[in-house]
Amino acid sequence: MINIVLKKLATMALLGLCVSVFAMTDQQRAELEERIKPAGQVCMEGDSSCGSASAASSGGSGKPVEEIYNTYCMACHTTGAAGAPKIGDAAAWEERLGKGIEEVYANAINGINGMPPKGTCMSCSDEEIEATVDYIVENSK
Ligand code: HEC
Repeated sequence: MINIVLKKLATMALLGLCVSVFAMTDQQRAELEERIKPAGQVCMEGDSSCGSASAASSGGSGKPVEEIYNTYCMACHTTGAAGAPKIGDAAAWEERLGKGIEEVYANAINGINGMPPKGTCMSCSDEEIEATVDYIVENSK
């Protein structure tokens, strides 16, 4: 008899727990959903790559730099095709930055040797190209 009462109590306690999970406010639920989105779509808490992800947006207007990179620059700068300095190659980028970021921006905008002007993104503004260079540099440290 005592046993049954204990079981009942335990079940009630469990139910209580469940109810409190479902009794979340819409705000809490939205936050939870935000947190359980597939990785890559959202910054995980404590994820150190979040900083560069936010630096990767060109400031609201225009195209996101990550998209520019993936569309126009990746073919050469991810593979190193035509002697392009690879993204993630810290030494290669440090060397290029030695001449000053302004010069590096200018070469990306005007082209140099195997590097086509604006990396062929003719619809990109100079600012977008500069932001994309920043993105590459940020991801090559
Ligand atoms: C067709 C291949 C190709 C594409 C596409 C390309 N690059 Fe390059 N890029 C190169 C090569 C090759 C170099 C090395 C040029 C050199 O210094 O001889 C280079 C060099 C650079 C440099 C270093 C310039 C310097 O002063 O040292 C930057 C910055 C750069 N690219 C940015 C970009 C960006 C941003 C994009 C996309 C918008 C892009 N590239 C697309 C081939 C490419």
